Amino acid sequence: MTQPEPATTPYAGKQTEVGSVFVSNYPPFSAWQREGVEAAREALEQPPIADRDLGLYLHIPFCRKRCKFCYFRVYTDKNSDEISNYIDALAKEVELVADHPAVAGRLPRFVYFGGGTPSFIGVDHLKTLAARLQQAIPWSAAEEIAFECEPGTLTRSKLEAIREIGVTRLSLGIENFDDRILSENGRAHISTEIYRCLPWIEDLDFDQLNIDLIAGMVGETWETWQENVRKILEVEPDSVTIYQMELPFNTRYSKNILDGAFDQPLADWHTKRVWHDYAFQELAKAGYQVSSAYTMVKDRDSCQFVYRDSVWHGCDLLGTGVASFSHVNGVHFQNVDGWGEYLGTIAKDRLPTGRAYRTSERERLIREFILQLKLGEIDSGYFRRQYGIEVTEEFADPLIRLESRGMLSANDTGVQLTRKGLLRVDTLLPEFYDSEHRGARYT
Ligand SMILES: C[S@@+](CC[C@H](N)C(=O)[O-])C[C@H]1O[C@@H](n2cnc3c(N)ncnc32)[C@H](O)[C@@H]1O
Ligand code: SF4
Repeated sequence: MTQPEPATTPYAGKQTEVGSVFVSNYPPFSAWQREGVEAAREALEQPPIADRDLGLYLHIPFCRKRCKFCYFRVYTDKNSDEISNYIDALAKEVELVADHPAVAGRLPRFVYFGGGTPSFIGVDHLKTLAARLQQAIPWSAAEEIAFECEPGTLTRSKLEAIREIGVTRLSLGIENFDDRILSENGRAHISTEIYRCLPWIEDLDFDQLNIDLIAGMVGETWETWQENVRKILEVEPDSVTIYQMELPFNTRYSKNILDGAFDQPLADWHTKRVWHDYAFQELAKAGYQVSSAYTMVKDRDSCQFVYRDSVWHGCDLLGTGVASFSHVNGVHFQNVDGWGEYLGTIAKDRLPTGRAYRTSERERLIREFILQLKLGEIDSGYFRRQYGIEVTEEFADPLIRLESRGMLSANDTGVQLTRKGLLRVDTLLPEFYDSEHRGARYT
């Protein structure tokens, strides 16, 4: 293992630039338009495509504090009544959408409580929400119910309630074990809260525990990162997800950098990739296997991530809650992202769709291809069956370019990213975009 170069200042080469993005969809969100909303209505009025999986995503947009690196739609100032109103609106949105032909009678393959911080809400709210959701879209047949948690929001009784509503996959946002780094980055939790909740989680025997870490938080050094990896190996979760710190425009750090009010060392991309690689190597030594560019799991057979794999293979996804993203019958749509507009629209018994985009078959092909590339490998047979297309011929030019840069290898059976490619996969994906979407603003 080579020692990484020291973290550079934000003004040196290959810096962590403001405006970087984690690619989660295609075409980029900037192509989705308010004028397209009718397409979303039409998509919901059509029956589903035979054998297409359905998933339900619920956005819980509350956090104790806003982390300085966070780019999600979250609120830290809502009181208990406002949270009640939101939970009520969320349940009502699911009830409203459940009656549409694209959804009625379908059983979701997975349910995902994301945020924000789903574990922020209290036991009563959680149970009420789950009961109403189950009435509208029963999830008894779902293979996975995933739930994101922030360590400091968990109590034993809350975890019991989370288990009781059927959660199978708990995802814990640890991010870092070092209190100084947690505090600098504006995290609400401290390390003792991590160690307080871990035994409860183990006792309650969830099917899967995933832990999120971020490589390159402000204040991280080579020594603290090695210590983080050592501690994660001690915890032995079923799955470890490592994100390299991104700085999209809407984070607090990004604003400080653009205002010239940020003067701390910030790990550059090379350093973050070396740290990410080091963690993957140490996890591999402990028996973990690569399950995507970000995630390693103890056992690839038993440790599935149904939400990720279904979305990346083009399932229908009902995204509910403020600013959530959906994909139904080939149409992308996103809910309005203002608190008042979201609640107000649902109060009028209307779905709160804010913008939409009808994808072409080619755009769906590119979308699934780039998302599956994040798994580290592409199976040509899948695209042959779904689209009748040889992807290695269809994308021959970018594949040859990336192969010559040592990012991947391709043959008739598919594409395999090298470790070099895997560690920077998000930067490779625009190579596969059609020209009208290349260089477009992401959001
Ligand atoms: C919605 S949060 C998870 C639940 C909870 N809100 C928490 O943070 O503990 C999803 C994950 O996104 C990751 N994340 C957030 N902002 C990020 C950024 N700027 N760069 C990389 N990863 C980020 C973090 O690892 C975080 O755990
Ligand atoms: S990273 Fe998680 S806890 Fe922090 S602000 Fe974002 S959603 Fe909330």
